Amino acid sequence: MPTTERLFRLAPLPALILAACLLLGCSKPSAPAPETPTAATEKPPPAPASFTTVAGIFPDGPGKELVLSTCGSCHPVACSAIGQRSAERWESLKNGHKDKLTGVTNADLEAMFTYLKATFNESKPEPKVPPEFMQQGCTPF
Ligand code: HEC
Repeated sequence: MPTTERLFRLAPLPALILAACLLLGCSKPSAPAPETPTAATEKPPPAPASFTTVAGIFPDGPGKELVLSTCGSCHPVACSAIGQRSAERWESLKNGHKDKLTGVTNADLEAMFTYLKATFNESKPEPKVPPEFMQQGCTPF
């Protein structure tokens, strides 16, 4: 079957091109400078979500109210919304917080961290939390 033969011979070509690109650096020129908002013909970018309340940062869902009432006494609760933590990071925060949250039942702890893990993570854009909601500071990630 000649057609199949030709296909086989051509198959490594994209790989070769890619390798050549990597070696010779035929990447696209660096991205153009960010557009200035004065470009009248351009549509303005969507306004960044701005939050007027801390509760507003947290989308509705099971666990939200518990988070708001439980997680703001030692550090700003808004710190939990930023950082785009991985599931592993949330898991270790949950375990690290068990002894800090002695009055919280295991079920509530699970509910809160399940909510946070699903709501704030690296697959979601990081909410633009106003700095005044984190005035006491957040621990480094
Ligand atoms: C009793 C005090 C206390 C309460 C209540 C508390 N935390 Fe913390 N939290 C801490 C301390 C202390 C740290 C910093 C040290 C650490 O990471 O263990 C911290 C750190 C954090 C961090 C940042 C750490 C990082 O490196 O990413 C997050 C996020 C966080 N807490 C989330 C929560 C959530 C969610 C709750 C509610 C379920 C909560 N905290 C309730 C004491 C508390």
